Amino acid sequence: MDTESRLKHLQEKLQAIGQSHLLSFYDELDDKRRQRLLEQIEALDFRHIPEWVQHYVKDYTAVALPTSFEPAPSYPARPRDEQQREKYAQATRLGESLVRQGKVAGFVVAGGQGTRLGFDGPKGNFPISPIKNKTLFQIFAESLLAASKKYNTTIPWYIMTSPLNHQATLEILESAGYYGLNKKDVFLFQQGTMPNFDFEGKILLADKDTIAASPDGHGGSLKALYKSGAIADMRRRGVEYLSYWQVDNSLVRIVDPLFIGLHVLDRSEMSSKALLKADPLEKVGNFCLVDGKVTVIEYSDLPEEQALRRKADGSLVFELGSIGLHMIDAAFIERLNRGGDFALPLHRAIKKIPHIDAAGNPVNPTEPNGIKLETFVFDALPLAEQSIILETIRSEEFAPVKNATGPDSPEVTRRMMIERAAHWLEQAGVAVPRKADGTPDCVLEIAPSFALCADDIKEKADRVPAIQPGQVLYLE
Ligand code: UD1
Repeated sequence: MDTESRLKHLQEKLQAIGQSHLLSFYDELDDKRRQRLLEQIEALDFRHIPEWVQHYVKDYTAVALPTSFEPAPSYPARPRDEQQREKYAQATRLGESLVRQGKVAGFVVAGGQGTRLGFDGPKGNFPISPIKNKTLFQIFAESLLAASKKYNTTIPWYIMTSPLNHQATLEILESAGYYGLNKKDVFLFQQGTMPNFDFEGKILLADKDTIAASPDGHGGSLKALYKSGAIADMRRRGVEYLSYWQVDNSLVRIVDPLFIGLHVLDRSEMSSKALLKADPLEKVGNFCLVDGKVTVIEYSDLPEEQALRRKADGSLVFELGSIGLHMIDAAFIERLNRGGDFALPLHRAIKKIPHIDAAGNPVNPTEPNGIKLETFVFDALPLAEQSIILETIRSEEFAPVKNATGPDSPEVTRRMMIERAAHWLEQAGVAVPRKADGTPDCVLEIAPSFALCADDIKEKADRVPAIQPGQVLYLE
């Protein structure tokens, strides 16, 4: 189609969905910029936009809470009885064997913006380790490298970026030489975007040739894995299971044989790790059962009286919080995508969205002026035939870097990294000096090459020097 007919075709399509204004500045643009704009318009989801405008902009009503829901069952972090102990041992052996056979890959979602952290650039490049100042990406890469070595296999790494940070992420990995990983075992791909709307339902223009758009949420990963060819790449390699985590979690245990094994033993298609909530109103999603299906109900949607409910033993009824750790079957992702029209529910956020006005002047709003739409990966849980939950221990596996100061800040994260290292060493019989308040009186950093879990240290405890109060000790 020549440009003239292409333009005419798009004019008609835009008119039909009430978005003709996107071409308002077309005549002012040079050829290159015209092409740019037309490409973005062609990529719009014409079929769904009217529905989005209707449901999420004009007639928005918050998603109704299911009429009946109950807490989701879970596996405890430590087996409760002999029977469970046997199952955990069996699952761990199975998990290890699957990793050894090359059936497991790592998958990090890294498309978000580190706005709250106030860090410029991809969040994965944030330096966090207490002594060597390793970045999150480096810690993940070294963990994958160490696990590949431990299990004598190759664990490929899939990384989802977004148009906001793809190029920067690529450059970081390139310049770091992929932190020692084989470049061909690292698969980078971009998630999709969603157009941003004003309160009237008009798509905003970021510039005369650019539609205002934002990443489609971590739920977009389930589409992007498929569309990008990542799933096909997994198939070629014989990978069947993805270990999914969020880029901000510095304590993530990427390869957890127990979790992998339970997921596979129970024929789960998508599994989750959960934390016991620190307080009833902690801002994490709640694992519930709705119509027999594991479902995450957002903290903002769970009525306070439900969040506060307690069992006879004093523990919370809804005690399991979602922390963005999953095992996902490649076959599940294929199944979802095969029909071609798979969509997760949309969530809307009211935001300040920079744009140009009808006269083409840039506007940098000081008040929220529009709506961003995104999908959440945990909304795929109820679509799984089977879905299990394994509780985990916060100090072992969850220290996200989210805020510049206060909770979930780098300072807290580093403290947790040191505390976990101390705990691992003590479990292996190494004495760690502690202050009167119980915190370690030393700075410790354990490289993934030294240990990926407490058990790894037990075999090499004799290689750890005696630790003096105030000492700074890096183990690799
Ligand atoms: C999220 C969870 C919350 C959980 C917490 C744990 C949601 C809605 N909430 O909160 O329940 O307790 O993490 O840390 O998920 N990302 C993309 N593309 C996007 C958006 C996000 O790749 O379009 C990635 C981010 O890079 C990050 C992860 O998803 O790795 C989480 O995103 P973020 O916005 O930081 O989620 P939280 O609000 O912190």
